Amino acid sequence: MKRVRLDKILGNMGYGSRKELKKIIKHGLIKVDGEVVKKSSIHVNPYESIIEINGEIVEYREKIYIMMNKPKGVISATYDNRHNTVIDLLEEKYLSFNPFPMGRLDIDTEGLLIITNDGKLSHDILSPKKHIPKTYYAHIRGEVKEEDVEAFKEGIILDNDYKTLGSHLEIEESGEVSKINLTIFEGKFHQVKRMFEARNKKVLYLKRIAMGRLRLDDNLELGEYRELSDQELDLLKSSIAK
Ligand code: URA
Repeated sequence: MKRVRLDKILGNMGYGSRKELKKIIKHGLIKVDGEVVKKSSIHVNPYESIIEINGEIVEYREKIYIMMNKPKGVISATYDNRHNTVIDLLEEKYLSFNPFPMGRLDIDTEGLLIITNDGKLSHDILSPKKHIPKTYYAHIRGEVKEEDVEAFKEGIILDNDYKTLGSHLEIEESGEVSKINLTIFEGKFHQVKRMFEARNKKVLYLKRIAMGRLRLDDNLELGEYRELSDQELDLLKSSIAK
């Protein structure tokens, strides 16, 4: 990487506006390679130099990867004029990365959502050609039976005559309200709801629990999020078939 202006590096990482950073730098709060710097215009290679703010080392990165347990009532988009979006739930420090949700969950769907600014990875994960599995846990009105498992394995004809790829349905409990896990290998609009509708059943509750090899962290409460660990990012990346 080339050398970049110090205030640009710190600004991109959400440490403040140019004006704010100028002040911080003037106050002598920033060190580069152990030396206090007083000019925001100096050029630094953030991968080679050690930058400290108030004694804390800045871990430079250009990409961010966040796992969120999406709650109901928020939209998987960067902007909406009626509802809060998943981006509105993020701390300010992430906003300078221009993050966006990797794919969509319906407003009433909960669970695993990756939020990132990595357009290439997002494109690969969502590519219809890659068939990345997505697993959902759901409550279904109506008795889900073995014949549904077989039909889902075969592929389901949706309301627009599209036949889905074969999917993997697991029944946890069958009854007036059934509890199931379903893994699908594509991502058509409202796909899970429409697959059950085609079987005359209604999805009452829907939560995504896995995308590729990456599973939702059970410790995240609804609306909570955290950055992916390096291992989790590797898991996600390794889900893409070559
Ligand atoms: N299928 C749906 O019907 N809704 C979602 O949010 C995700 C998959």
